[in-house]
Amino acid sequence: MGEFMKKDQMIMGIETSCDETAVAIIKNGREIVSNVVASQIESHKRFGGVVPEVASRHHVEQVTLVLEEALTEAGITFSDLDAIAVTAGPGLVGALLIGVNAAKALAFAHNLPLVPVHHIAGHIYANRLVTEMKFPLLSLVVSGGHTELVYMKEHGHFEVIGETRDDAAGEAYDKVARTLNMPYPGGPHIDRMAQEGQPTIDLPRAWLEEGSYDFSFSGLKSAVINTVHNAEQRGIKIEPQNLAASFQQSVIDVLVVKTERAAKEYNVKQVLLAGGVAANKGLREALTATFSSLEGIELVIPPLSLCTDNAAMIAAAGSILFEKGERADLALNANPGLMIESHN
Ligand code: KG4
Ligand code: ZN
Repeated sequence: MGEFMKKDQMIMGIETSCDETAVAIIKNGREIVSNVVASQIESHKRFGGVVPEVASRHHVEQVTLVLEEALTEAGITFSDLDAIAVTAGPGLVGALLIGVNAAKALAFAHNLPLVPVHHIAGHIYANRLVTEMKFPLLSLVVSGGHTELVYMKEHGHFEVIGETRDDAAGEAYDKVARTLNMPYPGGPHIDRMAQEGQPTIDLPRAWLEEGSYDFSFSGLKSAVINTVHNAEQRGIKIEPQNLAASFQQSVIDVLVVKTERAAKEYNVKQVLLAGGVAANKGLREALTATFSSLEGIELVIPPLSLCTDNAAMIAAAGSILFEKGERADLALNANPGLMIESHN
């Protein structure tokens, strides 16, 4: 009695950068209290990709409902919160604006600190909802918009040591899936087909210059499209399962080899997988096989629900950035070109 008890830190996260409207509440940076995601995938499917105007309209319609549900599920009110964290970029500007404006309005109305979060910092911090992070660490971020290797020497400090020069990994998956007449988003379909086929078709792997940690997937994507078209013209039948397996093998080979090389060179304690493509079964298996035989490097892979876009990851990153003292005022704007190094 009378003993000083540190109050639990409660952070609300808001994410609207692409096609999920999401609000979550996180306790002490690591514990999910509520995590609500309203996906728009069904609305975008018939267009074969995300339509920005459609995305913005959905966010406007959903954000208040999702917010109320997150609070109700958590059984708390705004007076229990320490801060509001929001994805400020990168992403679709019109989509980002809905979340940023909602966060600003709430921060103003309830007199709460506002913490801007880089979307990829969020993807990386999804891992902190699984286990404590150990530094230095390396994160392989593979999503629909990004393919990056990010080195972190400490919490809230990000160095991009490699990134894609053209298509992101998920983008390549989605475009290849489209060529094979599969619905959007194509990644999970290609992944499933790849499990049923064999990598019998020779496809390129872009290693780039010696020592580079950058990636390139547009050549591979074009090679798959050309293979399909050539076969069609010559009347040859290609097993789509084998094509999917060959494509997936090319992507995974490059991702795994570069991640392993960087992890050793930078002497990291942990490797964190992050982003929507982290849901890929083949990639998860290949990384697990590689790192289980590497002494001293722990591989962390979040559950599928934390790999795709969600707000728990934004609140998890927001918790650390809040402790670091990062704040935005009510002039905060959505920034589609935001750099992750802006947190350093
Ligand atoms: O991180 P995310 O939800 O959104 C972005 O921030 O981009 O990633 C979505 C991407 C899509 O391109 C989707 O096709 C891909 O992740 N994806 C997958 C799998 N599940 C989702 N790609 C390959 N294999 C999967 N199992
Ligand atoms: Zn994402």
